[in-house]
Amino acid sequence: MFWNKRLSKTDDEGAFDIPFRFRRARKSEAMRAMVRETHLRPEHLVLPIFVGEGIDEPQLIESLPHIYRTPEHQLGGVVRNAWAEGVRAVLLFGVPQKKDAEGSDTWSEKGLLARMTRIAKEAVPEMVIITDNCFCSYTTHGHCGVVVGDHVDNDLTLQNLQKQAVIAAEAGADMVAPSAMMDGQVAAIREALDMTGFTDVGILSYAAKFASNLYGPFRAAADCHLKGDRKTYQMDPANRRQALLEALADEEEGADMLMVKPGLFYLDVLSELRQQTQLPLAAYQVSGEYAMIKAAAEKGVLDEEKVMMESLLAFRRAGADLIITYFAEHACKVLNEKELHSAIE
Ligand code: PBG
Ligand code: ZN
Repeated sequence: MFWNKRLSKTDDEGAFDIPFRFRRARKSEAMRAMVRETHLRPEHLVLPIFVGEGIDEPQLIESLPHIYRTPEHQLGGVVRNAWAEGVRAVLLFGVPQKKDAEGSDTWSEKGLLARMTRIAKEAVPEMVIITDNCFCSYTTHGHCGVVVGDHVDNDLTLQNLQKQAVIAAEAGADMVAPSAMMDGQVAAIREALDMTGFTDVGILSYAAKFASNLYGPFRAAADCHLKGDRKTYQMDPANRRQALLEALADEEEGADMLMVKPGLFYLDVLSELRQQTQLPLAAYQVSGEYAMIKAAAEKGVLDEEKVMMESLLAFRRAGADLIITYFAEHACKVLNEKELHSAIE
């Protein structure tokens, strides 16, 4: 391109002979908006909500600034509020008081998972209700499945995931999001849902979920007491090709949407997966990512709102349709104000 041409500054013209002047399309906000390739809208955002069992008041989660554990009796209000701000999908996490070796509370119709799903669905039937399907906050050992000896048993856990998914569907979940990273979990859950008549309940698969160090604040929030790590079932952060295999396997097993998690450190995986599947893609901006931006903003070294919006746009640019983020309500507010602003002008 440029390099074949001689750049010569001629006396009479006073300008270099540069064939591409990209700044022509960056002249004004109106011009920049015309050529903008990626957009962020409220409907792209999914808000995670922590529901605390047996608490009377919202509990501030210290590891996640401005995020609360919501008592069950206030969950309806929280969901209505989110809807009013423009949020169209929520991801529910239970923080139970009842724990046991397998997390059996999650497949009881009287358990926290069933109760919070019913409350959220009844509060705003139009809201897309997604349940995180795992066991780690409901088990005494903190692992995402059934522990046998020194390992987490894949196939025993699949049976529990099936029971749990059916309970979530019965309670009104629009989608279940299995996050246990057991092999075959999407096929097992699809089969269980279809056999019980829940053919219209979707699966948002945590398809490529890495054994990341960015989940720390979440584990404190969800009261997960894990000793050790999840390296035998979650992915090695070093692996890109394997992430694609994991995701494409979930597509074959019947996932309706695929997720990459964590987010910003794994945009290469997201971007490549975008080339290889036609399914909708979700990215999870996890607790550690949120906490980093919050901490930097509190120190005064970053502008929180601007960095938040830039980070969310980065997910869209890399190919995410949906972004699960603790910033969902804040970002909706910013987007709605922008809309109002340009309507007035
Ligand atoms: C449970 C689960 C985790 C997250 C979502 N679901 C934690 C983990 O796998 O240890 C992390 C979310 C976050 O960090 O925001 N399996
Ligand atoms: Zn888990």
